[in-house]
Parts: sequence; structure tokens; C-alpha cells
Amino acid sequence: MRRHLWTLLISAGFIAQAGAASTVATINQHKHMGVATCASSVCHGASQQFKESNVWQNEFARWQEYDPHATKAFQALQSAEGQAISRKLGLGDATQAKVCLDCHADNPPEGMRGERFQLTDGVGCEACHGGSEQWLTSHASKDVPHADNVSNGLYPTSDPVKRAELCLSCHMGTPDRMITHRIMGAGHPRLSFELDTFTWLPEVTHYEIDEDYIRRKGEFNGARDWGVGQGIAAANLLDTLIDPRHGWDGIFPELVLFDCLACHKTMDSGRWGPRPGTGLGPGVVRLNDANLVMFRHVLAAVDPGAASRIGERTRALHRATTQSRDATAAAARQLSADIRGLLPKVAAANWDGGMLMPILDSLVRDAERGEFRDYAAAEQAAMAANSVLAAFEAAGAVDATKAETLRGRIDALYDRVKDENGYNMAAFVSALRELRRAAG
Ligand code: HEC
Ligand code: HEC
Ligand code: HEC
Ligand code: HEC
Repeated sequence: MRRHLWTLLISAGFIAQAGAASTVATINQHKHMGVATCASSVCHGASQQFKESNVWQNEFARWQEYDPHATKAFQALQSAEGQAISRKLGLGDATQAKVCLDCHADNPPEGMRGERFQLTDGVGCEACHGGSEQWLTSHASKDVPHADNVSNGLYPTSDPVKRAELCLSCHMGTPDRMITHRIMGAGHPRLSFELDTFTWLPEVTHYEIDEDYIRRKGEFNGARDWGVGQGIAAANLLDTLIDPRHGWDGIFPELVLFDCLACHKTMDSGRWGPRPGTGLGPGVVRLNDANLVMFRHVLAAVDPGAASRIGERTRALHRATTQSRDATAAAARQLSADIRGLLPKVAAANWDGGMLMPILDSLVRDAERGEFRDYAAAEQAAMAANSVLAAFEAAGAVDATKAETLRGRIDALYDRVKDENGYNMAAFVSALRELRRAAG
């Protein structure tokens, strides 16, 4: 009954669809003309960077040669591994399966593909920049403001909230592009993402934040992007949990939303320990709250009051999962709304060097009370430390010698999360303490 009501309300537009749902809609709003239309040597297909241009103009060449979105995403579906996954799921050829193509290619509906469009191009320009039918000509003109192109379907990739929604639509999954426990069970690798870390992996970048970029589009700030990415990831999980299409799989909840290691560990007894942030006792399957935990650390620097509110609401959500499906949905809806409400404040905060210590202190406090028992949260904490430090370094808020010491400590922290199966909380906690000590 309740499920039916949600479906009606959502289709009638009474319940605002999650931001990520509108991401896919925005990307697919206009025809995708195909990578080939971007690739002329006077457009983005130059072999060298243009000196006098605002953008490099060799984006296509870089993408084609180095970017895994071009070199690996579609190929993964052709590989023996990809084919085995889809065969086990009864989906036939992975290169024809919508669920796989939605993340491993640019996959607009049939009618939204121009003549030069090719699915085999993989995650092409328009998978991120949006279908170009209405802006292809105008975006090359200096007389047309960026905002006009955006209203014609150019996706606002420079906006951190929008960019987080875009990347996470494939790197985490959303109600529109869903990775399920069944897909994982068939052998799909676990997805792990952190916005700032992934944005700056050299193989995917085809832009630089220089003077003209800042003038045209504003600053990039890695710590801010880390914070925004955590909020969107947390809200995504909650939105999927309450989405009538996905929250449930037969008699069980959709297990991909839960902490993998709550189930996938050996049966030797005596390894359980409390995590105050959940308030749950032993023997309970926990939601994967890694991003919720991290968002609380983001807020520790931006709005400590909100941080403790989110902490309480997270505990309430965990408690609700032991009560009923309705209680869970209500708690998740509340928390998702809270987070989305706080995101503008996070995006607009002044992410200067003063943010470093409150974040590290908040991480260490959690570590000391046993919050990093779960591998997923520890992994996010390591990426958090990395992004936050890199951002402060770039802003000149930490001097070079100190930055180098801190970098060593962060490498040690990464070492502790290298192997999911060999994860040891005590070792992780001491590495985090070392980092905090070195920071001052
Ligand atoms: C929600 C988006 C999403 C969906 C749905 C999805 N994938 Fe993936 N897949 C990814 C991402 C992202 C990676 C890369 C993981 C990483 O390395 O961070 C990946 C990795 C893979 C890999 C490993 C590739 C490599 O280079 O090692 C294979 C194989 C694969 N996917 C096959 C499939 C198949 C087959 C399907 C359909 C049943 C599918 N995927 C559905 C997002 C998705
Ligand atoms: C995985 C997503 C993704 C793909 C695929 C992608 N881009 Fe980008 N692109 C971005 C992001 C993120 C930025 C940086 C944010 C911004 O300036 O909008 C960017 C920036 C750019 C810029 C610089 C904009 C500026 O104002 O300085 C150009 C030009 C560009 N991309 C062209 C391309 C072309 C051409 C392709 C295909 C060959 C492509 N992109 C593929 C995500 C992507
Ligand atoms: C349409 C889906 C899609 C979108 C949107 C997308 N990606 Fe990806 N991305 C993939 C897939 C699939 C792979 C895995 C390719 C492989 O290894 O098989 C990938 C791989 C990557 C990798 C390499 C990961 C590794 O482990 O080496 C990085 C980095 C990355 N993406 C960053 C981004 C960023 C940043 C954004 C947003 C600006 C983004 N992606 C948006 C689908 C997507
Ligand atoms: C509620 C418990 C539970 C949670 C949480 C859970 N799983 Fe599973 N998982 C199972 C069960 C049960 C199976 C089926 C085992 C079988 O087929 O014998 C399974 C099977 C798998 C398999 C196939 C293993 C094999 O036999 O080769 C993989 C891979 C997997 N899960 C990954 C994950 C990942 C990744 C997550 C987190 C995103 C996760 N699981 C969360 C219970 C869980």
C-alpha cells in the first residue's frame, strides 16, 4: 500500500526526485551528437595545447589516449570478466545490457542519438558535459555567456554539487543508475569514490585551474569538494533506500546499501565491538554509513551544531532499521532533507587553513571511540585526510616542510586501508593519531 502511494506521488511529481535523478535527466535532455563532433583539430582534437585559448583544445586526444572513461569503460563490458558478470545475471551480452551501459558508456535513449554518435566510444564527452545538440555551435563563441549554454543543456560540471551528483551517478549508483548486491555477487568490483581524489587523478583531467578559469568559473577548492562529495554520497544512499524501485529485493532490503563487512567476514567469534555512532548491538546488519560519518566530520569544520544533529539523526536511522521499513524510510527521508539543506552552506564555506584542525580532531575523536571498525569508513577517512591536506597546501595554508611530514603520515594511513581483508582498526587508529600529532 505504502509502496504504491510513493510510486504515485513520485510519478505525479509531488515528491521531489533526488538531485541525482535529475542529473541523468539533464544529461539526456538533448540529442547526443557523438564524440566525433568534438574531435576536429580546431575544436578539442588538437594534438598540442593551444597557447592563446582559454581551454587546452587537446581534450579529445588526452581523453582518447589516457582517460579510463575512453580506454576502459566500454571495454570492461567486452572483457571476459564483464561477459561473465552479465551471463551469471542472465543478462546476455553485457555490451547490450542497459543496466551495464548506463554506467559504462554514454547511453541516452535511442531517439536522442545523433548521426555520429557511437555507443562503443564509452563514457564520452556528452556523458559528462550533456547532450550538445543545442549548445554545440554556441559554446565555441566568446559572445555567448556560459550560463546561456548551461540553459541549453551544457551540464554545469564546474559547480561542485552538480559535479558530485554527476560523478557519483556512476561511481556509486543512484536510483537511476543502480548497482545491486546481485551485480556485486556476480563478481562486479566494489565501488569506491571520493570526489576530490578522483577529480585530480591525472588520467582524467583535461583542464587546469588557472587565472582565466577562475575568472570565468570561480575557484576550485579540494577540501570543499571533499565535503560536498560526502554530502551527496550520503544523500544518494538515503534516496536509494527510500526509492520504491530499489530499497528492497524480495524479502530483504537491497544489501548493496549495507556495510559489506557486516556480513562478509569469517565466523570466528569475539570480534564484535560497539560503534557508538550506530547505537546498535551485536549481530545486526548495519547500513553503510561511511559517507554519513564523513559528512559529520565535514560539518565539524563548518557548523558544529549541525554536525551533532546529523550524528543524532544517523543514530536514529540505524535504530529505525531494527524497527520497521516505514520507520527506516521516515528517518532516511528526514536525514536526506537535512543534508541537502546543509549543502549550500558547505559549498559556500570559507575552506581555509583554519578548517584543518577541527576536521582532524573530529576524525581522531571518532577513531578513539571505535567508530572506524568498518573498513569503508576508514577508507573514506584516509581519502578525507588526503584531500583536506592537499587543499590547504594548494591554498598556502601549510608550509612545505610541514606538508611533507604530513604527506608521509597520510601515506602511512593509506597503507592501513590497502587491503580490505587485512584491515586492522587499532593500527588505523594509531596512524590517524600520528597524523593529528604531526599537524600540530
Ligand atoms: C552504477 C554504475 C555501474 C553499473 C550499473 C555497472 N558498473 Fe561496472 N563499474 C562501474 C565503475 C565505476 C567501475 C570502476 C570501479 C573502480 O575501479 O573504481 C566498474 C568496473 C567494472 C568492471 C571492472 C573493470 C576493470 O577495468 O577492472 C567490470 C568487468 C564491470 N564493471 C562490468 C559491469 C557489468 C557487466 C555491468 C552490468 C551487469 C556493470 N559493470 C554495471 C560502474 C558500474
Ligand atoms: C568523466 C566526465 C568528463 C568527460 C567524459 C569529459 N569531461 Fe570535460 N570536463 C569534466 C570536468 C569535471 C571538467 C572541469 C570542470 C569544468 O570546468 O566544467 C571538464 C572540463 C572541460 C573543459 C574545460 C572547460 C573550461 O572552461 O576550462 C573542456 C574544454 C572539456 N572538459 C572538454 C571535454 C571534451 C571535448 C571531452 C570529450 C573528449 C570531455 N571534456 C570529456 C568532465 C568530463
Ligand atoms: C557515465 C558514467 C560515468 C560518469 C558520469 C563518470 N564516470 Fe568515472 N568511470 C566510469 C567507469 C565505468 C569507470 C571504470 C573504467 C574501468 O576501469 O573499467 C570510471 C573510471 C574513473 C576513474 C579511474 C578510476 C580508477 O580506479 O583508476 C576516475 C579517476 C574517474 N572515473 C573519475 C570520474 C570523475 C571525477 C567523474 C565526474 C566528473 C566521473 N568519473 C564520472 C564511469 C563514469
Ligand atoms: C546482509 C548480509 C550481506 C551484506 C550486507 C552484503 N552481502 Fe554480499 N553476500 C551475502 C550473501 C548471503 C551472499 C550469497 C552467498 C552465496 O551465494 O552463497 C553474498 C554474496 C556476495 C558475493 C559473491 C561471493 C561469491 O560467492 O563469490 C559478493 C562478491 C558480495 N556478496 C559482495 C558484497 C558487497 C560488495 C557488499 C557491500 C556493498 C555486500 N556483499 C554486502 C550477504 C551480504
